[in-house]
Amino acid sequence: MKHPKRLVVVSNRLPFRLIEQDGRIVLQPTDGGLVSALKSYFEKHNDSVFSESIWVGCADFPQKRWEKYIKTPDKEKQLFSVEPIFVDSKLYSLYYNGFSNSVLWPLMHYFITYTVFNQNYFSAYEQVNRIFAEKVLSVLQPDDILWIHDYQLLLMPGMVREKFPDLAIGFFLHIPFPSFEVFRLLQRSWKEKIIQGMLGADLTGFHTHEYVQHFLKSVRMISGYDHQYRTINMGNRIVKAEMFPLGIDYAKFSNAADDEHIINIKNDIRKRFKDKKIIFSVDRLDYTKGVTNRLSGYELFLKSHPEWHGRVVLILVVVPSREIISKYNERRNLIEEQVGHINGMWSTLEWQPIIYKYGHLAFDELCAMYQAADVALITPLRDGMNLVAKEFVASRKGGSGVLILSELAGAANELGEAVLVNPLDIDELASAINRALEMDEDEQRRHMTLMQQRLQLYTVNDWVRDFLAQLDEVKSVQEQRKLKVVSKKAISQMAETFKKSPTRHFFLDYDGTLVPFARKPREAKPASELLTLLRKLAQNENTEVTIISGRNSDILEEWFSEVPVNLVAEHGASMRMLGEKWLHGNAINQSWKPLVRPTFDLFVKRCPGAFVEEKRHTLAWHYRNVDPELGFVRSRELIDNLYHLIRNAQLQVIDGNKVIEVRVAGIDKGTAALKVLRQKPATFVLAIGDDKTDEDMFQALEKIAFTIKIGQGITHAQYVLNGQNEVFTFLENFLN
Ligand code: UDP
Ligand code: G6P
Repeated sequence: MKHPKRLVVVSNRLPFRLIEQDGRIVLQPTDGGLVSALKSYFEKHNDSVFSESIWVGCADFPQKRWEKYIKTPDKEKQLFSVEPIFVDSKLYSLYYNGFSNSVLWPLMHYFITYTVFNQNYFSAYEQVNRIFAEKVLSVLQPDDILWIHDYQLLLMPGMVREKFPDLAIGFFLHIPFPSFEVFRLLQRSWKEKIIQGMLGADLTGFHTHEYVQHFLKSVRMISGYDHQYRTINMGNRIVKAEMFPLGIDYAKFSNAADDEHIINIKNDIRKRFKDKKIIFSVDRLDYTKGVTNRLSGYELFLKSHPEWHGRVVLILVVVPSREIISKYNERRNLIEEQVGHINGMWSTLEWQPIIYKYGHLAFDELCAMYQAADVALITPLRDGMNLVAKEFVASRKGGSGVLILSELAGAANELGEAVLVNPLDIDELASAINRALEMDEDEQRRHMTLMQQRLQLYTVNDWVRDFLAQLDEVKSVQEQRKLKVVSKKAISQMAETFKKSPTRHFFLDYDGTLVPFARKPREAKPASELLTLLRKLAQNENTEVTIISGRNSDILEEWFSEVPVNLVAEHGASMRMLGEKWLHGNAINQSWKPLVRPTFDLFVKRCPGAFVEEKRHTLAWHYRNVDPELGFVRSRELIDNLYHLIRNAQLQVIDGNKVIEVRVAGIDKGTAALKVLRQKPATFVLAIGDDKTDEDMFQALEKIAFTIKIGQGITHAQYVLNGQNEVFTFLENFLN
């Protein structure tokens, strides 16, 4: 069935470049996992799934050539329409060679010392991301699905979001997201903008679970947004981070084993090396690919296993990439020197241990190499995924062959039956090569078959389908939540009911509702504007206002003694109706406190920045000022400890907003609100709160009140207000 929507895909690189040959313009394919994956998807589906597919990317050819080409485009290759972007070459270089490939690429692959921290690079990166966003905005229609790819465009989702608040935007990162300890090395404003940019997407995808965890931690540490089940709560929006391990077009590689032309190339290779085992390796020229370490491992193998001399050959293909950047050029020289050294050292008149090619392999040649090889040696020092490893496995139709794979490639998560190696450990590399060459066919087949079964279950098509389906899900969750956001119409209906009702009662939570959270509880003092508003609200005819809080009675008395309101403290353990005395629930058992207090104190020691607040009836452990990650972990441990400690007592543990509180069971804001209402009944009741303890109130008042939660999150409340800053204006609707 055709999808009624259009898919707009954006990546820095387009899948082809245009070159002039004998007066004609021809398409030449470009390299890399990203292009390879998206192209495979389009080849399979053409545009049968979406009403139209558009690929937006930077042209690495002049505009004139493009204009000439589109007059007579290559019809067969039109699987999607292309929207090239032409960027001034100086600016492009600062963005591409500069920030993308001399800052983000090395840093995110843990090559910290290769990272060049240069402000001009970042400014160009911002500018080019903006150019991309503008191009996309000129093409976009509101119902499109926009899918942005990779590290060159981290700021772009946020830039498009500014203009299209409801658009479905997906983002996928094809390289590792590093540990926060590495990501934090970026300059503060850069990393803040990058995280904010990425959060412009509704769904952000990564190859592995680890990268997702790293990203979530950076979001929490840099932007302060918390997450639950990989859903990030940004206050007025939720977005999701999820893993989608990129797959390959399995059938394309597997069927290549029956392609006559490819079989012929393979036979030629086998004939040439007929009495030798072939080890094959192919990578873009990149220091992350670990080619020099690999060569050292191969040399050590040759040194320690002379019995293989003359019986093995390493075919090493290095594909040109990012040649202008000095770190890449240096790498080429290092590789070529090392190849020369090894061949010089170990060759005989009949045998050369390494055959080296610096260049691109066409699909047929690559498949033939995958089929002709006995061993694939793929040992990146870091790699987001590595498709070559998967393609080799898919190409082994008979099930023979051995894959030696770096455990630091994302693909290692799915290819656990390969001979996994630490790519830096030269001894391990040498013995892995020997082990692979010695492995009997039965064992080869056993491992290969398991890996093949797994790769067939999640091909590139499944990857695309899975990503887009989850993007759809996020959009519908957002939609459902939006329905709860209190509309202008709902507000006027509430105001109307308020006016008509003979008696009215407002229940207002304090922290997070009437005032924003402060670092220290005492600092969240009500401003005079708030006190004036409450006074005006309470001065409406026949109107009660009750502040219903977890705070203790002393502080509520201190702050609100001059305002005509009722006060409920410690979630209902203490109350004071207007004009009356405080009732402190003296019958409430206090004997549990000495039992719980030492555990709270211990967790203050273990968690710098945490503190205990002892109230009349409850104990609270606050962690708002703690490192967010540590605070979260310690709070889970504390809850676990408390459950054991109070198992048999009539106590309750409340997991609040950056606070863990213990109190006697049966006291909650719901029971308290009902008690107050019995004394001051009303036909119009409105309750507002932001935290878990307010949920008791929302539930208890469900049938008799308008209930409103501040911020996103699962709630029993009928309506949602996006943020605390909206409360003041909202309440002003109820002033006469
Ligand atoms: N590739 C190719 N010709 C070559 C070398 C590589 O077509 O000579 C393709 C290969 O089939 C694979 C992609 O380039 O799909 C490389 O992706 P990978 O994820 O292994 O590495 P990346 O280049 O993205 O870092
Ligand atoms: C990796 C990156 C891609 C990039 C490819 C080739 O796969 O994740 O975004 O396109 O390498 O690199 P290049 O710089 O030539 O585009």
